[in-house]
Parts: sequence; structure tokens; C-alpha cells
Amino acid sequence: MTTFPLPVDRTSGSPIHRQIYEGLRQAILPGRLRPGQRLPSTRCFSRELGVSRLPVLTAYDQLLHEGYFSAKIGSGTFVSDALPDDLFLSSPGRPAGPPARPRDRFQPPPPPGSRLGPFQVGIPALDRFPHAEWAGLVARHARGLTLAQLSYGDPAGWPALRGAVADHLRTTRAVRCEAEQVVIVSGSQAALRLAASVLLSPGDGVAIEEPGYFGAQRAFEAARCRLVPVPVDEEGLSIASLHRRGRRLGAVYVTPSHQFPLGVSMSAGRRFALLDWAVRHDAWVLEDDYDSEFRYVSRPLGSLQGMDTHGRVIYLGTFSKALFPAMRVGYLVLPPPLCDRFVEARRAFDFFPPSLLQLALAEFLDAGGLARHLRRMRGIYQERRDALLAGLRRHCARVLTVHDADAGLHVTAFLADGADDGIVLRRMEERGLVARALSACYIGAARRPGLLLGFGTATAQQLLEATRVLGEVLREPGAIAAAHRADR
Ligand SMILES: Cc1ncc(COP(=O)(O)O)c(C=O)c1O
Repeated sequence: MTTFPLPVDRTSGSPIHRQIYEGLRQAILPGRLRPGQRLPSTRCFSRELGVSRLPVLTAYDQLLHEGYFSAKIGSGTFVSDALPDDLFLSSPGRPAGPPARPRDRFQPPPPPGSRLGPFQVGIPALDRFPHAEWAGLVARHARGLTLAQLSYGDPAGWPALRGAVADHLRTTRAVRCEAEQVVIVSGSQAALRLAASVLLSPGDGVAIEEPGYFGAQRAFEAARCRLVPVPVDEEGLSIASLHRRGRRLGAVYVTPSHQFPLGVSMSAGRRFALLDWAVRHDAWVLEDDYDSEFRYVSRPLGSLQGMDTHGRVIYLGTFSKALFPAMRVGYLVLPPPLCDRFVEARRAFDFFPPSLLQLALAEFLDAGGLARHLRRMRGIYQERRDALLAGLRRHCARVLTVHDADAGLHVTAFLADGADDGIVLRRMEERGLVARALSACYIGAARRPGLLLGFGTATAQQLLEATRVLGEVLREPGAIAAAHRADR
């Protein structure tokens, strides 16, 4: 193709994938690349530019994700016929319209989930979601909305969806629940905020896993709670440490099925000990079961909630991993005595989740769409996980130690003590690889360096190639600085 110049400047400090992305976008803006025009394959284009294929793949992925490109299976990649809004507002070839307002010229930075590199953490395989089936369901429900469905809904959620979620959780996660205990919310983040507002007061202590999930940290900080980090070991949260810290804690937040980010599952002994601790201290246990649908090595473990005989566990889950994050639908399963308080608090937040989505989702669950999708995705993710592990063994074995890779959509790998994972991440970014630093998941001073490597968004082949590039990055002089960072 290169009918337009796209110089790649290795000295500019801007990552190569970013330069390619910008170069292509700048060629689309004035119409040098036209709607419908076919793009060269990533292999040819990388050869023409004299760069590896990975930054080209990353740039293409981002342009696809933002709607500048479209892909037709078997035919290649094209400039989109329907380009994102406002794209041509200031382009010279267009008839003169009203001058673009500052808002039109502003190009917002891409949202966090839009940088779909091979190691993107926490994002499922969005291209494998059954879009057509889902779109058909949503359209049918939109056409058939009754007057009651157009009006205010139940703050606990649409009854059909609460029932479908309860059925799903009873059978797949051994959650003990009836539909009446389920409250539909806008994802786990909203579930945590709601739980904090009902159960905790500003200044209350909340034990969180160390290292742990930044979303939970954020939610409790926003509720002005006091975060108390409790270390995680091979069996999950250390209950001995919890006892040492736990005299005045209102709640403990845990991810027992698949600890985020280390990946361990909490042992049965620890589960009983945690429940016992909660009863003795009159504290709540917030169980976040965010991605346990995907387990590759053994059968999924049942929920902690299913072992709770004293009504101390608040169970929360999400469709962000099983379906897609933009769905923004999650759920809480509450001990019955808490239901009314949560529903009242829900009214004060955002009333209730959009009815149309809930109706479509209820049918998707009832008709077996979710179960079918999960079955299919397990096989796909297993293949991707296996490719990632094989690539890490082949290219990074001397530098990275994989911790636990039995479940979920990412693998956590340790760097040697004293390494600086921030530097590694920056070097990776320059080569088009976007991951997360393990050290950023801690709130205390003692942090283990490592990488969280997602495998949801890339094919097995792309992951193998990405591990090869990662191996090169890790062998670059100075990539793994042997110094503790005093600034964190
Ligand atoms: C531990 C944990 N909980 C929950 C979520 C998803 O949250 P949400 O439902 O708000 O998208 C994630 C996403 O990465 C996660 O890692």
C-alpha cells in the first residue's frame, strides 16, 4: 500500500505502535485513505515499514476497536465505511460547514480498555462474543417493550433476571440463594460502592488482600474507609495476619476462587477460618467472584458464600468477564436480613439498572446462551493460556516465574526481587505490549515485582509472538534494574 509516507522514528520516544496508529489515522482524516479502501496485511505492512509485526498488529487492533477500520473474515482489513463521528469535520475535501467547535476538535485519549494489546489484563475476547444473537435479542425486546417496562423498574432489578442469575449461581457456583436475595447492579464496582454505603461508615477498617484488586481499593477509599492490607500466600488470605490486625474491622474483601492478582484459590481450611473470624468479630465478608467461570486445571471451586451458615457473606459477581465489560451488569447476593437496606440504598444511587438490558440478559441466560458462550470460551481461553505459558517457557523462563495459571484471563509472573516492573512495563509499551505491574497492586511498602499478562484478547499465535518480543525486552540491558524503588 504505502501510498502515503509513514516514517517510523525510533528515536522520537513515542512507541512505534503509537506512531503507526497516528500515521494511519492522519492518513484517514484528510481522505488519503478512503472509506472501503483495503489495507495491506500486517505482515506486508510491517515488512514495508521495517518493524516487527507486533506494533502493526497493536495499531490495527486499536483502529479496529475505535471504528476506523473494519475487518471482513477471509478478505482482510478495510478503512471503515462508517467512520467515527466528527472525523471529517475539519478535513479540507469536505464542503464548508459551520466552523468546528472546540469540542469537535478535541480528541480524547483512548479509554483504558481500548488499548487491546496481546497482554491487556481483565478484558475478555470481545470479538468472540455472539454479537448477532445478542443484537437480535436486544432489538426484539426493544420493539416489544410494554408500558410497564418503559416506566420505573424495581431497584432490586428485573424479577426475571434476578431469577435467572439465582439459577445460574446455584448450579455453577454452589451459591445458596433465592431470587429475592439477588440485587442487579451496574457491575462489581457499583456492588462494592453500594455494599460500602450500607455496611460501613467513614473511618471503618476494611481488610483487603495484599496484593489486591485496585477497583476494590478505589471503592473503599471513595467510601472513606480505612484500608488494612492483609497478605496473601499459597492458600489465600492469611487468617493469622487478619487476626493480628482485625480487632476493629467492619469487613474483609476477598477473591477466594481466583485471587486477584496472584491467582491462588483459598484453601478449604482458610475459608472456614475466615467465616469463623467474621462471626467472632461481627464483620462482613465481601466475596468477589469475578472470573471463576474460567478454570482450566480442575473443577471450579464452589463459592465461599455456599459454606456460610451465619449470613456473613455478601457475594458479588459480574458479567464483565463472562460477556463484556461495557455491559455494566453485575449482581449481589445478600443475606436475607440485609435485602431491604440494600434496596433502599440502591434507590438513592441510580434507582435501577436499564430494563431493556436486563430483559435481554434474562432471556440470554434462560435460553442457555450464557452457558453455551462460556463452554465455547473455556476452550478458546485454554488454548490461549497454553500458548502464553509455552511462549513464556520458551522465551522468558530465566527471568519470569509464572505463579499460578489455573484459572481466569491473566497469568501473573514474578520478576526477581529488586527488579523494577515499572521500567519493564515502559520498555514493553515501546514495543506495543500493554500489561500491568504486579507492584502496583500493593498498598503497603513491601511490593513484589512482576507482570500481569492477560491472554483474553489475543490469539494463540499473537501471544506466542508477544512472548518472543517480551523475551527480547527482558534481555535488553537495564530493563530489569536491580534496584528497589524508594519512591513507592
Ligand atoms: C477482582 C475483580 N473484580 C471485578 C472486576 C470487574 O469489575 P466490573 O464488574 O466493575 O467490571 C475485575 C476486573 O478486572 C476484577 O479484576
